[in-house]
Amino acid sequence: VLISLGTGPRPEGDVVDLFLDCHERIRRFVELARVLGRRGDLPAAEVEDGCARVARYFRQALPLHVADEEHSVLPRLGGHSARIDDALSRMHRQHEDHEAPLAALLAACDALGRASADRAARARLLAAAERLAAELEPHLQLEETVLFPAVRELLAPAVQTEIRSELRARRA
Ligand SMILES: [Fe+2]
Ligand SMILES: [Fe+2]
Repeated sequence: VLISLGTGPRPEGDVVDLFLDCHERIRRFVELARVLGRRGDLPAAEVEDGCARVARYFRQALPLHVADEEHSVLPRLGGHSARIDDALSRMHRQHEDHEAPLAALLAACDALGRASADRAARARLLAAAERLAAELEPHLQLEETVLFPAVRELLAPAVQTEIRSELRARRA
């Protein structure tokens, strides 16, 4: 159920609110990865659990969000204006560029999860989280400032409803 992905029920929200909820979770899990990379004082169980949650989020949930943008948003927003088309191609390129830092984050997360006291593994997770954060933030902002407003302004309510159904189907 889509609503369970949110931090709380938002029955009034539109489809862009669902995208914004995803962005909030992306930022939250990047931050959790940074905390796990920075803190050497956490109990082993907390480190293991945190690493497992970060890895699960970026392996399972993030790809669904990227698929939402690539397959439900991009084809519908394309062709409206040069500015939107440019933002869409930047978005697409950035999604591809994120694959390497994401793989590094997952590898570092798995390693620290297996050896929670390993300082080198912790340092690698911090470096991976910082790199991913630096690449993700301008990406999230591009979507939030150009593309999400365009979904609200340029796509008919019926089309926004279609997008919402596709998001739900991807998670069913
Ligand atoms: Fe994206
Ligand atoms: Fe996004």
